[in-house]
Amino acid sequence: MRIHTTIALITFAVVSALVATSLATNSTWGQRGYYDRLLFRTQVIKKSSLWQVTTVDVEFPGKKSYNPYLISQVSAIDHKRKDGGYVQLRNGGPGFRNATLHIKSDRNHGLNYTIEIYGH
Ligand SMILES: *[C@@H]1O[C@H](CO)[C@@H](O)[C@H](O)[C@H]1NC(C)=O
Ligand SMILES: *[C@@H]1O[C@H](CO)[C@@H](O)[C@H](O)[C@H]1NC(C)=O
Ligand SMILES: *[C@@H]1O[C@H](CO)[C@@H](O)[C@H](O)[C@H]1NC(C)=O
Repeated sequence: MRIHTTIALITFAVVSALVATSLATNSTWGQRGYYDRLLFRTQVIKKSSLWQVTTVDVEFPGKKSYNPYLISQVSAIDHKRKDGGYVQLRNGGPGFRNATLHIKSDRNHGLNYTIEIYGH
């Protein structure tokens, strides 16, 4: 029983440590095929601001625009080595003609992302 509790505590500590050190990670949704081409690329740069979590929504193709292509891959490249952000695909993406991404910074840190959308 004691041992189990200790292991549980250690596991908890390790998981907490992993969550606390945020290394920058890239995220991709879907697969890019031979016939897919770049439909959209944008760079999201935000300066850090004290105590603030910065959020940015990226919408493709944007309000009142129509994208005739089917999206096959959405890619979010985090240019920061550490203290990177966190990206969620909120809407659409692979298999759709639109996509909405929600990018969130770490508290006290800025963002430097490239978002790319491929399709055909
Ligand atoms: C993210 O992708 C970029 C461009 O492909 C690459 O230079 C960088 O090393 C990648 N970062 C991680 C954490 O994999
Ligand atoms: C963002 O990342 C790009 C590519 O690594 C780099 O050239 C640029 O200087 C960075 N910009 C900022 C504001 O950190
Ligand atoms: C994306 O397209 C779907 C169906 O085509 C639609 O229901 C949805 O509202 C669209 N989302 C955005 C953010 O435009």
